[in-house]
Parts: sequence; C-alpha cells; structure tokens
Amino acid sequence: MQFKAPRGTTDILPEERPYWRLLESTAERIAENFGYLRIDTPIFEDTGLFVKGVGDSTDIVEKETYTFKDRGGDSLTLRPEGTAPVCRSYLENGMNNLPQPVRLYYLVPNFRYERPQSGRYRAFHQFGVEVFGEVKPYVDAEVIEISWQFLSELGLNDLSLTLNSIGDKKCRPGYIDQLNEYYHLREKDICEDCSRRLANNPLRLLDCKVETCQPIIEGAPSSIEHLCPDCESHWEDLKSHISDIGIPFEIDNRLVRGLDYYSRTVYEIAPPIEGRTSVITGGGRYDGLIEQLGGPMTPGIGFGMGLERVIENLKRNQIKAEQNERDIVMVAHIGDDALRKATTLASQIRRHGGAAMVGPSRGLRSQLRYATSVGASHAVIIGDDEISTGAYKLRNLRKSDQSEATAEEILAFFSSSKD
Ligand code: HAM
Repeated sequence: MQFKAPRGTTDILPEERPYWRLLESTAERIAENFGYLRIDTPIFEDTGLFVKGVGDSTDIVEKETYTFKDRGGDSLTLRPEGTAPVCRSYLENGMNNLPQPVRLYYLVPNFRYERPQSGRYRAFHQFGVEVFGEVKPYVDAEVIEISWQFLSELGLNDLSLTLNSIGDKKCRPGYIDQLNEYYHLREKDICEDCSRRLANNPLRLLDCKVETCQPIIEGAPSSIEHLCPDCESHWEDLKSHISDIGIPFEIDNRLVRGLDYYSRTVYEIAPPIEGRTSVITGGGRYDGLIEQLGGPMTPGIGFGMGLERVIENLKRNQIKAEQNERDIVMVAHIGDDALRKATTLASQIRRHGGAAMVGPSRGLRSQLRYATSVGASHAVIIGDDEISTGAYKLRNLRKSDQSEATAEEILAFFSSSKD
C-alpha cells in the first residue's frame, strides 16, 4: 500500500517554495513596517478556547474542528483559525498591561474538516494580524490597509474590498429582533440550513448561498440602518479613513462573516470570481471577545488571509515568484582521494558563509547533470590530475565557461560569493 497525503492537504514541494518565500517575506516586511510584532501560538489549544472564542453555533466549531483527547485525557483542538489563540496569549501573557494598542501578526497553519475543493483545504495557511486596545476606527482602516497593501504589492490589482458594520451589543439585539420577525414571516420559504440557523444565529441567514433564499435576503432589513449613534459614527469615520488612504470599497449589507465574535466592522477582499472559496481575506472587529475569554473589556480587530488562495490568484494572473539565484557550487570528484578533497572543500566554503554541496558518487557526466538539476550555479571538478597539479576546474554552469583555480582561490571566490 502506498500512502497519500490526507484528503484536503497538499505538500509544498521545492518548486513552490519561491511563492511561499515571497509571501512570507512580504508579509513580515509589511506587517513590521506598520509596527506589528510577530507572534506564534501552538498548533493545538484547549478545545474550550474555540468553543467559547469562535462560538459553538459557527460552522467551524459545529462541524469542522479536528478535536482529539490526548493521552492524559484532555480535549485538544488543532487551530482552525488564529484569532482566539492570539487573544488567549494576549491575556495569558499580560499583554493587556502593556501600553495599548498591542499590534501582532502571524503566519500559521490552520486545520478545518471542510469539504475539500479548489481553494478550500483541510490544512491551509494564514497570514493574519490582530490589534488590541484601540476602539477608534483608524485602526480598522489600518488593518484593512495592511491586507490591501500586501495583495497590491504582490501585483493583485483586480481585487475588491467589501465592507459592512453589524453593530455592537447595544444595537445588534434590536436588529436581530427585526431580522427574526422578518424571517419568521417567511419561514416556509427558506432553506433547511436557514431554518436551523434562525433559532441560534439569524445573522448567518444573510450569508446563505441557496438560490431560493436570495430574494428573501434582498428584502431583509440591513444592519447599517439599525446602528446606534456610537456605531454609526464609528462606521462613518471608518469609511472616511479608508477613502483618505485611497482604497476603493463597496458596501455589502449582507456581509456578516461566519464567526460569532464580530462586532461593528466586518470586511472581505475577494477576486472577481464568484463563491465563498474565492475570498482571500476576511476580518473584522471583535470588541467583546477578550471579555468573553475572561479578560477586561478590550477592543480588538484583525484579519486572516488564506495564503494558498493568494498563490492561486498569483498564478491566475500569471505572476511568478522569483527563483533564488544565489550561487551554490557542487564539488564533483573522480576517485576516493578526490571525494575527500571535495567534502573538505565544500565544508570550508560553507563555514566561510558560502553554499556548497558534494556531487553524488557517480561518473562525472552524471554528477554534472545532477548539478544542473538541483540548480547549482557552479561545479568544481577534482580528479587525480587536479590533485597533483593543485589546479581544480571551476565551471560556471549558468554561463557554460570553465577556468582553473586553486582550492584557496575557490574558497575565496565562494566565501564572498561574487560572480
Ligand atoms: P475566516 O474567514 O474563517 O476568518 O478565514 C480567513 C481566510 O482564511 C479566508 O478568507 C480564506 O482566505 C482562508 N481560509 C479559510 N478557510 C480556508 C480553507 N479551508 N482553505 C483555504 N483557505 C481558507 C478567520 O479565520 C478569522 N480568524 C479572521 C480574523 C482575524 N478576524 C479577525 N481577526
């Protein structure tokens, strides 16, 4: 039997690495340019953190978590999203006692037991940020700007930003009542999922993709029309900040997002392709979450961005990530004495900061073919003649020229890695 990667997971093969290197370095640079510091949390957490933090009526907690008992009997869950763990760490490490706001970013793998399809995986990666301790909407705009700048710098210029405000704990209950009333009058016309959600999470009905529910969603009351004065001014200021930064946006009253913790601002960035699995970035404000996890009242906002989806969009736009073009030499050897010289030379080059590997134990032609296939920039050739004269052959595989050099000259050449 041959094993395969589990359903919904993929290997990141060496040829894909340039994309990942590009995404990770761009994310780190941009987040740090905005003053964000990197945080890494464990791959698994207490199951209760997600039940409480993400919400037990969300799809994620209802049916998508990888939950297991460890050998000590504790229930643990593989991280399905980054926000709840970062909140847990913020509280556990007393970051609420630091000068606020605290600005954090992460690049992490997540796990959700979803139905795999293009753009939707069971193991995927997110670039995300979270900001704690600032209620003013300039920080909402800042978070949106980070995600927008990241995608723009990568060359994704055909994306759209969609915004909504779903109010806060003061005004949302009134809005939910209205929504309930509206939907109860139409209960016989809505899909099964919507009927089920009506009881515990009516906001999510606005998010339904079933065809027959669309006209009902069209006519549903909108959250923006039910904002209290504080949420209203937050919403107006947010729109002004985003306009000031110069990011185009659309308002979508049906955008509610699939997680329970949001309040006020919610947003998504998506390419011009229909469907939930195409959304690249999702984020929003979660002013009650820290309190819900046992901390003091602390506002929070952030986003999560699926890196696999970013790469798919780069490919869709035929944007390539540059290969790493740095010099790496392969030291080829003919005979046992030459092999010893080769391993010593390669080791010295590496200790002087250069990059070197030893050729495989095969004939010279085969070693040189190998050098090309693994992307070596140069080959050094050592045989009996070269050992007796002390003049090794140095071949530039990118330019196909060859010269002679002593071991010392080769060491000096690759230590400073010039060409
Ligand atoms: P989310 O909408 O669940 O939000 O995920 C954010 C992004 O992660 C999605 O837009 C998508 O790009 C990617 N993503 C989610 N699920 C999958 C999947 N199964 N396969 C591939 N990519 C996926 C959150 O996770 C929130 N924690 C975002 C947030 C941070 N809100 C505030 N702070």
